[in-house]
Amino acid sequence: MDVRTCGINLNHWYVVAQSREITTKPIEVKLWYRSIVLYRDSTGKIHGLDNRCPHRQVKLSEGKVVGNSLECAYHGWQFNGQGSCTFIPYLNSNLNGKFSKNQALPRSQIESYPVQEDDGFVWIFLGEKHLLESKQVQPMSIPEWQHLNYIGTVSVIDCQAHFSFLIENLMDMYHGHLHDDYQAWTDAKLKELLTTEEGVKGLYEAQSYYKIDKIWSISQLFFPRFRSLHPEPLMVNYCYPHWQSTLGKDFTIYCLFCPISLTHTKAYLIHFTSLNAFWRLHKLPKWFRQFIKDRLYGTAQTMLDGLVEQDIIMIEQEQQAYDQQLREPTYEINPTIPAVQKFIKKQAEKESIII
Ligand code: FES
Ligand SMILES: [Fe+2]
Repeated sequence: MDVRTCGINLNHWYVVAQSREITTKPIEVKLWYRSIVLYRDSTGKIHGLDNRCPHRQVKLSEGKVVGNSLECAYHGWQFNGQGSCTFIPYLNSNLNGKFSKNQALPRSQIESYPVQEDDGFVWIFLGEKHLLESKQVQPMSIPEWQHLNYIGTVSVIDCQAHFSFLIENLMDMYHGHLHDDYQAWTDAKLKELLTTEEGVKGLYEAQSYYKIDKIWSISQLFFPRFRSLHPEPLMVNYCYPHWQSTLGKDFTIYCLFCPISLTHTKAYLIHFTSLNAFWRLHKLPKWFRQFIKDRLYGTAQTMLDGLVEQDIIMIEQEQQAYDQQLREPTYEINPTIPAVQKFIKKQAEKESIII
């Protein structure tokens, strides 16, 4: 089995949008060859339906929300959050009702997907629904999102490549070579590698300048001359299908995956800077700490977007090279990569439907 043609295991929660993107105006999102319409009803609940009106197959994302229902733009049929047709504006209007008396609403059902809104993101589950009843499968937890001591920044990755290229990039810390000034660490050395039921974990030892213990420490991110190196453990964790990494105690980063097709991957990279060292701050009223958290949101945007831009160039070139030279061998000396590839293949076997 070729890892670059592996599908995803659908029995996991995937991220398709950020919470703040979803309003009462429907939007189209894509996840593994499906077009899904997301909208918020009048109670604030998010619904996810197959983005296809059963009447004439047009996209429901062109429509609008009316109360708790989604109204198709074309003829105004309405559907509830479970995907059932609830209203047709011209039912029984034909030939004064003589065309067909007592016309009933069609029984056609649009597929509705389980949606969860957690930690600032919208999660969708396309797998076997019985797994959700037993709560065996949960969205990845991101406790830092709510925690007042963490400042978040989100960068969106959108690349024309198979998701395996992205996760390999995230697990292979020797690619710090690419990032130079954007990178918070250098000189990584792989110390441990562990494969479990959930994924693959790598532990590197790196030299880092990242230590947020003074109010001006954040300036290290922007001015290399303020940096001084010290050893820190650098952990990377592929918790299938997502990823998390920590560098020492002050630096946490997540990557939430949304694979769209075999050659298109979207993902959300979330970086958190810890304010744990500022104990005086913790004594301030909660509303003020929330205010600081909100005001500082996006502080690391330049750094994060810069990293993403450099990574995407490499990842897309890998895909292009793969497409053009199927028989050319690649060489790998980081054992993390074959471990990740093996894991992806195992997950793809679990989900027999590839497309
Ligand atoms: S196509 Fe949707 S109502 Fe006709
Ligand atoms: Fe990178």
